[in-house]
Amino acid sequence: MIFNKVKTLQGEIAVPGDKSISHRAVMLGSLAEGTTEITNFLQGADCLSTIRCFRQLGAEIEATASSNTVTIHGKGLHGLLPPQEVLDVGNSGTTMRLISGILSGQSFPVTLTGDESIRRRPMGRIIEPLRRMGADIESLQHNDCAPLFINRSKLSALKGIHYNSPVASAQVKSCILLAGLYAEGETTVTEPFLSRDHTERMLKEFGAAIHANGNTVTITPNPHLTGRSIPVPGDISSAAYFIAAGLIVPNSELVIKNVGINPTRDGILHVCRRSGADIRYENVSQIGGEPVADIIVRHSDLHGIEIGGSIIPTLIDEIPILAVLACFAKGRTVIRDASELKVKESNRIDVMVENLSKMGADIIATEDGMLIQGGKPLHGAVIDSKSDHRIAMSFAIAGLMAEGETEIHNAQCVDISYPEFYEDLKRISKN
Ligand code: S3P
Repeated sequence: MIFNKVKTLQGEIAVPGDKSISHRAVMLGSLAEGTTEITNFLQGADCLSTIRCFRQLGAEIEATASSNTVTIHGKGLHGLLPPQEVLDVGNSGTTMRLISGILSGQSFPVTLTGDESIRRRPMGRIIEPLRRMGADIESLQHNDCAPLFINRSKLSALKGIHYNSPVASAQVKSCILLAGLYAEGETTVTEPFLSRDHTERMLKEFGAAIHANGNTVTITPNPHLTGRSIPVPGDISSAAYFIAAGLIVPNSELVIKNVGINPTRDGILHVCRRSGADIRYENVSQIGGEPVADIIVRHSDLHGIEIGGSIIPTLIDEIPILAVLACFAKGRTVIRDASELKVKESNRIDVMVENLSKMGADIIATEDGMLIQGGKPLHGAVIDSKSDHRIAMSFAIAGLMAEGETEIHNAQCVDISYPEFYEDLKRISKN
């Protein structure tokens, strides 16, 4: 797909539903008693993988391609059925890690696999704590990666643990908390920095006994979850591409409607404001236990900043687009404490550095991040997205500001989290 320079960006966008929240709504809806209605569900490939897996586990899920409303007739915590075939999570790390927690508490065996990218990503980080809880889980190739085989626990029930996670990962935390639904006694997770807390918020909405205190969260099992309505806010990780584009393309002004601004996800807004961005909220409200707002962004003169420490988990998926933004900021941007980027859908440090360098940027990779000297004009190049949706979207935005053509290979991988991304971008692009 080819991208060219645009003059300005103007208009209003409603980004699709939040990916993390959509996954969790399908999972908890399937485990609840009664009906759960999810509105503004993200029809991205990852969330459709979660629906497919839960259907294989016997959940009754009404979902069609033409509607973003999904209705689930829950099976109850102990109502899932053994699947006839291997569960395939596709490209979705969230599905793989969260479902493993749930499946560790079931009374049947199951094999989980996924695409080539998922089979390279680290699963030792969930295998180890789940085993401590008494789960019978193994990596079939003995390399701490998928495929995973999960058998019924040899214990009568999993046992609660206090897990001090070495990584600030919502996927690890959520996996353990979901296993905790099936454990005897309390399950507690402490993480080095607070990661996204959608699982905690939604479990509370479904009636679970869960209590958070700083970076520590504890779940006490109770006999059932209760189905409910879940309105899904727009995904701030998808909005991030338009926020960045609005800031760097001259004379732009964009309104992004109904975006989730959960404080464990809004790091992108903090760092943009710190570098001089004109970003405002309107219509701030609360839906389904999550804060939302319309975001108004205007073209701004940005300066380089340092990004590291506890803010990293709150903007982890936005670092690729932040690297693009840094190329247009005056001075140096330092991104550190972000080595988790190496184990995402692609190695996002290497892929960003390689491709932005091709476009003429002054960027180098460090052990745990990147150094970017802003202000060098970008020129078009041929970009391999490595089939990573966040890489493809980041370079589509870089292409709007580059001299000449930017050609993105495997551009359709945006289907993972934002199938209509290119149409929405085209609609607001003015020449
Ligand atoms: C996610 C958590 C993050 C994020 C991923 C979605 C989630 O991963 O990168 O896109 O829904 O829990 P980690 O928690 O492993 O950092």
